[in-house]
Amino acid sequence: DQRTAYIDRLPKAELHLHIEGSLEPEMLFALAQRNGVEIPFASVEDIRNAYNFSNLQDFLDIYYQGMAVLLTQQDFYDLTWAYLERAHADHVRHVEIFFDPQGHTERGVAFADVVTGISDALADGEKQWGITSRLIMCFLRHLDEAAAQATLDEALPYLERIAGVGLDSSENGHPPSKFANVFARAKSLGLKLVAHAGEEGPPEYVHEALDVLHVDRIDHGNRALEDAGLVTRLAGEGMTLTVCPLSNLKLCVIGDIADSPVKQMLDSGLKATVNSDDPAYFGGYVNANYHAIAGALDLTRELLRTLARNSFTGSFLPPDQIAHLL
Ligand code: ADE
Ligand code: ZN
Repeated sequence: DQRTAYIDRLPKAELHLHIEGSLEPEMLFALAQRNGVEIPFASVEDIRNAYNFSNLQDFLDIYYQGMAVLLTQQDFYDLTWAYLERAHADHVRHVEIFFDPQGHTERGVAFADVVTGISDALADGEKQWGITSRLIMCFLRHLDEAAAQATLDEALPYLERIAGVGLDSSENGHPPSKFANVFARAKSLGLKLVAHAGEEGPPEYVHEALDVLHVDRIDHGNRALEDAGLVTRLAGEGMTLTVCPLSNLKLCVIGDIADSPVKQMLDSGLKATVNSDDPAYFGGYVNANYHAIAGALDLTRELLRTLARNSFTGSFLPPDQIAHLL
């Protein structure tokens, strides 16, 4: 219908996308064959059938298993290029991509191959389609802070290619404060800071992301809505939240797409954005996420435009470049 066409053509940025979560079953299967990696699936259909999750950890177990087929710099290039083709088709003009180096270096993949493969594809995407980008290195929060510090050490020669650091993986039991020192060090290196908070974890984790980590953006932030004082604060600070509707549904953060917090966030003055998180696992790229909530929450064109606008103003692009995109 008209709203679908409106969404599809709306210029937008994507701010919450794990590049490893864009590994489609077809590519997973092909890379397993190309690299001679054994996987516990006999077919692409078999892989897709395994994608049923009842919580975040269920998903993460499959997600880390899927990564095992990514071995060479070319694999990371191909993965990133395939995502950019999808993003281009969705009228995405700017992307800020997460990657999980610890999911690769612990398997013996060189940090350099991961960063170079991803960032070479991002540079080629800008040449081919004008899609600008930033790369955000995430620390796995189920590992300890020393491991995060060692990962930041490895990143030092590549800081020209890395714009910021983030925090992802199993949230409950791993509060932001566990990473206070490594985030402070990243900030002193001039890196931007983001953290997943309030996806499954309590509002207190959102407070910690703000007060202890001093993040520039909150990833997800759903459970901030349980704390009225926190909502007022986030609204007052103009803090961007990167919400992921289909992810929330697939990971049972919400029971129904109509329970997506996006409309309530906008109504509360929060700067919400719409993103795909791990689109190969959750059933759709960014436009599919807009479509899902547009119908369920009956979003007007004005609100859809606000969401797209927030994605640019909440990005790490310099203001003069944002102005060109609005
Ligand atoms: N890693 C990849 N996707 C994630 C998510 N939605 N939450 C936490 N860690 C993740
Ligand atoms: Zn995420």
